[in-house]
Amino acid sequence: MSRPFKRLMELEKLFGVDLLPASKKAAPRAPTPGRVEEPSEWSALRKEVTACTRCEELASTRTQVVFGVGSTTAPLMFVGEAPGEDEDRKGEPFVGRAGQLLTATLRKCGVSRSQVYIGNVLKCRPPGNRTPAPQEMIGCMPYLLRQIRLIQPKVLCVLGNVAAKALLNTTLGITKLRGRYHDFQGTKVFAAYHPAYVLRNMNELGTFEEDIRRACVDAGLLR
Ligand code: URA
Repeated sequence: MSRPFKRLMELEKLFGVDLLPASKKAAPRAPTPGRVEEPSEWSALRKEVTACTRCEELASTRTQVVFGVGSTTAPLMFVGEAPGEDEDRKGEPFVGRAGQLLTATLRKCGVSRSQVYIGNVLKCRPPGNRTPAPQEMIGCMPYLLRQIRLIQPKVLCVLGNVAAKALLNTTLGITKLRGRYHDFQGTKVFAAYHPAYVLRNMNELGTFEEDIRRACVDAGLLR
């Protein structure tokens, strides 16, 4: 068995999701005529995530699950760490101060939030905005992987260390990873600083803006 194939099988087992190309699996059955249509995979996923209680602590402290926002056919998908207080209250990712910086940077490029997809590694706010625990990331990753598989973005932009570590098999920090392309199972992954980091280090604003613009260009949203 080839190594990439074996690695996909290992990831499937770890995260409990389908990652292998359809041709390596049994062909899906044709729909039975006259049967009520199944809910789309996307709405089924949203329903499942919204009811999730895998992480007892997060499920009991959250106001609501923050599933993600934007176009489900977007060529560019952003992945952050986890909802903060504002996101937990509004049910939408990246709407607090860091989110406003991301939105403003996109707008400066002439790109709106509705043209991209924005999500997080964790769908629930960790209390006090603490860093996600490894078990929480393992529990929540299958949802993100299913979102990525359904959206199939041309460019996946990871924002900050947590998202980069979750998707890239690396021990390198975001300073080394940013501004470059990496691979996640055939999807092009571009790494950029997390906007919350940029808010604390405003000397990195230019770098952040350049990175976001490049991701938009490479995704085909800009020339
Ligand atoms: N930080 C994140 O990583 N995600 C959000 O949704 C908001 C802040």
